Parts: sequence; structure tokens; C-alpha cells
Amino acid sequence: MGHQISLSAAMAGYKVVCTDINAEILQKAENFADTYLPERVAKGKLTEDAAKAARARISFTTDLTEAAKDADLVIEAAIEKLAIKRQIFADLDRICPAHTILATNSSYIVSSKICDATGRPDKVCNMHFFNPALVMKLVEVVKGAHVSDDTVEIVMGVCKKMGKIPVLLHKEIYGFLVNRILQAIRTEALYIHDMGVASPEDIDTAVVNALGHPMGPFRLLDLTGIDLSYYVSMERYQETGDPKYKPSPIIVEKFVKKEWGRKTGKGFYEYCK
Ligand code: 3HC
Repeated sequence: MGHQISLSAAMAGYKVVCTDINAEILQKAENFADTYLPERVAKGKLTEDAAKAARARISFTTDLTEAAKDADLVIEAAIEKLAIKRQIFADLDRICPAHTILATNSSYIVSSKICDATGRPDKVCNMHFFNPALVMKLVEVVKGAHVSDDTVEIVMGVCKKMGKIPVLLHKEIYGFLVNRILQAIRTEALYIHDMGVASPEDIDTAVVNALGHPMGPFRLLDLTGIDLSYYVSMERYQETGDPKYKPSPIIVEKFVKKEWGRKTGKGFYEYCK
């Protein structure tokens, strides 16, 4: 998500510094920018000048201090583990200027669980993009009770400048809006599969052709990452103890086999590099 969100922002005119603790992953993000922008030019979707300008606006570093020290807005898109996010936000609070807004792209973790790791809870909010972030227009902005009106206004404005369509959630709710609906579909799809009723391919075919979704739940799991689905379910299960959140057997199997979807070349489907 991070590489596509940062490139979206650079294409919209923002100066962006993209960072990751893993140099290899960061290099992949840079390679993606170097491939994606010329492809857009070749497709006639972007002028050569606009592509060059966007590329010049985005830089890459593994040094968080270097990346965040002059930022007005940080969008965190790290792994879905609360302890890690809290540590990142504590570090950002130390590194960033006092006015900097710290947003999280978390799919499920509400910012009230993170904001007290900083000394600026009014400037910590959820800004949730969808995969693939360069294509999907929707962004969920969540106004927890600790978030100031100014923060919401600025974040909504940034979304619009990025060409996105923001929706505002006036309260925090687990899974926000879209993922609650998506989770209901996924739970049923996985149940039907695990009961031996139909294959992932046939369930996807049914959802695409009967409900008009652009892709079925299994292909979408491959796109968003089976590892992400596993972490999110586990975190929720451990938090609530409610067995309905326990990851489905096929998700556990794929997670253990590192068949995480597109990112590993295999999930429910196979992908060539
Ligand atoms: N990255 C960037 N751009 C991509 C892309 C990717 N991975 N995949 C496709 N695209 C672009 C293509 O370049 C093309 O752009 P263009 O029309 O401007 O040239 C456009 O998307 C359409 O691509 P294709 O014709 O190759 O393929 P499709 O028409 O099948 O579209 C899709 C692909 C946009 C991924 C479409 O299938 C889709 O909308 N799928 C549903 C995605 C979805 O539901 N996302 C939400 C997931 S939930 C989530 O993110 C929440 C999180 O918390 C887990």
C-alpha cells in the first residue's frame, strides 16, 4: 500500500519521502515508480513532463528521521500490529515538527489505540486507502473523539487534492465501513469453501457474475494479501477471544506456506512475475 499511496501523492503534486525499515522492500517501491510512470506515459495517461515531475517529487530512504523531519503529513502503512504502530508513532512524534499530522492507513486499528503514544492525539487519525491505491478512489477518514476538526479538514483536503473520494466516519468502529462489509462477504466465502461446497474459482465466478463485483473474494484476498488477513483476524481473535474471528483453516494453511497472494507469486491463484 505504501508505495502506491506515496506515488499517488507525488503524482498529485506533493513532495513525498517514502520510507521502510527494509532496504529491499524500499528498492522495490523505487523500481515500481520507475516502471509505473513510463508505463502511464506509454499508455497516453500521463505526459512525459508530468511523469518526470512526479518522479522528481518522490525520494526514498530507510532513515525515518530523514524521511519525516520536515513532513507536514505522515501516512503510516506498516504491518497490522498494534505494538509496532505505537512504536512508529512514538518515534514520529519525536522526529516531526509540532504541526505534523500523523495518519495511519491501518485497515482495522482505530487511531485512539495509537494516539496516546504521541503528545499530539488531536493530530492522529485514520486515513484508510484501498488496494490498489493508485486506482481505488475511496479513502475512509475517521474522526475519533480525540481528533480535531482542523485535522479532519486538512486530511479530507489532501484526499481531494490526490484525486480521491474521502468519506468521513464520525465515530470509530472496528473495520471502519468498507472492511466490515467486505469481511461479511469474506467470512461467508471462506465458510462455503471450508465446508467443501465450492472451489475458490467457482465462488469468485459466482460473485463476479451474479453480484457484479470487479473481482471475487479469493482473488481479492490475493490482491490485499493473505498475510494481512491472517494478522488482522489473529489480532482481533486475541483481543476479543471470540472464535468467530479465528482465521479460517485455509487462511492459516496459506499463511504458513507463505502463499500470501500476488506478493509471493501464489495465493489462491498463481501469478507470474
Ligand atoms: N496497481 C496499479 N494499477 C493497477 C493495478 C495495480 N495492482 N491493477 C490494475 N491497475 C490499473 C491498470 O493499470 C488499469 O489502469 P488504466 O485503465 O488507467 O490503464 C486499471 O487499473 C484497470 O486494470 P486492468 O484492465 O488490468 O484490470 P481490471 O479492469 O480488472 O481492474 C482492478 C483491476 C482495478 C484491481 C479491479 O479488478 C478492481 O477494482 N478490483 C477490486 C479491488 C478492490 O475491491 N479493492 C478494495 C480491496 S479492500 C482494501 O483494500 C482494504 C484493505 O484494508 C485490505
